[in-house]
Amino acid sequence: MASISLKTEIPGPLSRALVARREAATPQGAAKLTPLAIVRAHGATMTDADGNTFLDFAGGIGMLAVGHTPDNVVEALREQASELIHMCGIVASHDAPVALAERLNAAAPGSEPKRTLLMNSGAEAVEAAVHICRSHTRRQGVVVFDGAYHGRSNLTLAMTSKFNLFKRGFGPFAPEVYRFGFPNVYRRPGGMTEAGFVDWHIELLGHNFTAVVDPAHVAAVVVEPVQGEGGFIPAPARWLRALRDLCTQHGILLVADEVQCGMGRTGRLWACEHSGVVPDLLTTAKSLGAGLPISAVVGRADVMNAPHPGGLGGTYSGSPLACVAALAVLDTLATPSFLRRATELGDRMRVRLVALQAALPNLVGDVRGLGPMLAIELVKSAAGREPWMEATAAVNAATLQRGLVTIRAGLHSNCVRLLPPLTLSDAEVDEGMDVLHQATLEVAAKMGAA
Ligand SMILES: Cc1ncc(COP(=O)(O)O)c(C=O)c1O
Repeated sequence: MASISLKTEIPGPLSRALVARREAATPQGAAKLTPLAIVRAHGATMTDADGNTFLDFAGGIGMLAVGHTPDNVVEALREQASELIHMCGIVASHDAPVALAERLNAAAPGSEPKRTLLMNSGAEAVEAAVHICRSHTRRQGVVVFDGAYHGRSNLTLAMTSKFNLFKRGFGPFAPEVYRFGFPNVYRRPGGMTEAGFVDWHIELLGHNFTAVVDPAHVAAVVVEPVQGEGGFIPAPARWLRALRDLCTQHGILLVADEVQCGMGRTGRLWACEHSGVVPDLLTTAKSLGAGLPISAVVGRADVMNAPHPGGLGGTYSGSPLACVAALAVLDTLATPSFLRRATELGDRMRVRLVALQAALPNLVGDVRGLGPMLAIELVKSAAGREPWMEATAAVNAATLQRGLVTIRAGLHSNCVRLLPPLTLSDAEVDEGMDVLHQATLEVAAKMGAA
């Protein structure tokens, strides 16, 4: 039986009414990608106020590796809510945050002893990671990359790329942030091989540590093993390993920002496992809490212990509710079949995306990602690779009209990224990919894509 069931025009009248109230009550700056008013969701489906059921391939922007309202998370929340909703970690201790820190320490890559700091959002985790690195190294510089997204606080906005959408009008930004190029192999100069391009980017790292900032000034290099907002661009493994070596050589701490690509999203618990690179610290959030606001910095104990007692924390950090949700999520991710299934899903989705590219070789310029973290990049022609933002918006709108929620990504907002729950059935994958295929063909025909 199909998962998608549409009963009204999209958006329906009740969705339109709520969105109108939202627009009257909240500022226009608060981002909104669809006109839907959702009232309930389970697994990979969401139902709106008008009774329409959608397949969710946005997953709350990658929050839902374990799907909407998973039974074990709901049960853990019910039990916890009747016992203790809040216990500020600055005031007293509670079992759930301690158990979660122990679990994350044990699950983090690398054999050295670990410590975990719990926070509430991805941006907070990244910002805390930078503070910890500065405290440990007694240096100030932070190196980030083209296309990076690290959040919307002042420091993480400074670290974020894509100026017009995220940063315009909000400066001045935090100082001591240095940006290097990121090896996006799809956009390598014509005629250059992939291997040659990666070699060139490895050379550029050395060059940038002279031309942009001296390594002795740098506390941390913060890198997404797979860029998320940047358009699902996996960092080439060889380049990541070279970056690791340079950091070690210069006493710089390597921070893997796994807020979007971690927690099983790439078919491994941590995306950095694909390259074998062990970061000094990593940040995680999104799917960790199955929708509850929670994030963590997990890293080497000697580094994590650098800040003075009382230097880290927050009133909400380690919320018992968010922590029991995260513990239930980790139980699910630890099931041996879960990550295996996630990889299978990725393979099944990739086959369909490659078929779409074969059908529309000039529009679908690239199919890429790692495991089930997949995106297509839409361009005006295969040879010219001019980003086609309008076609991407049209595909997102066309899938929605057919009951599939998809969202965009990329420096040029010209990628359709797929972040479905990793609990999808084969039938749900096929139904979603059929919709994406048809919607893209329709847009190509309407917009005159060759
Ligand atoms: C890699 C990465 N880092 C940090 C963030 C910021 O997370 P949050 O929105 O929870 O602050 C995001 C959010 O998309 C992200 O993808």
